[in-house]
Amino acid sequence: MGGSIVLVGFMGAGKSTIGRALAKRLGFEFLDTDAMIVAQAGRSVTDIFRREGEAGFRKRESVAIKSLSGLEGKVIATGGGAPANATNAKLLAKAGPVVHLDVDLATVKERTKRTASRRPLLQGKRDIDLAQLLKERRKIYDSIADVTIDTREKTTAKIVAEIVKELL
Ligand code: S3P
Repeated sequence: MGGSIVLVGFMGAGKSTIGRALAKRLGFEFLDTDAMIVAQAGRSVTDIFRREGEAGFRKRESVAIKSLSGLEGKVIATGGGAPANATNAKLLAKAGPVVHLDVDLATVKERTKRTASRRPLLQGKRDIDLAQLLKERRKIYDSIADVTIDTREKTTAKIVAEIVKELL
């Protein structure tokens, strides 16, 4: 396996939690594109959306994703919208095997209950709109994924074990 392991999936799929545990298990460094953007901007995702709009955030996100090229031996968690940009999607596919952490709407809602205030795209969204966004995004995630893992009702340890079994 070359490159890094890239985790994609919708908000609440567990990309950061699984990514951290997977990196620990493999002795890889863990990177998170949202955390890279926040560190670079010196402000939170919510603040970036507020001051620069979604377009400003997406610009920063593309810069962060470009910087991943050529990295080896990392586990990289990406923001849920990152692969929706075609250039980002290509770069992520090149960065290493891509794992889609798959979720359904009920799981998204349950897992983001406590952190929704940190996710601007969840603010004031109706279920029907969220379901539509999830439907569109799942197709994109699957189009670049080498492996898709159903994460519903599974523990972090179980998901990590499934990823390791599939990739190594
Ligand atoms: C977004 C997902 C967020 C973050 C930003 C936009 C999206 O990351 O990048 O709020 O477009 O789905 P998580 O998937 O880690 O919540």
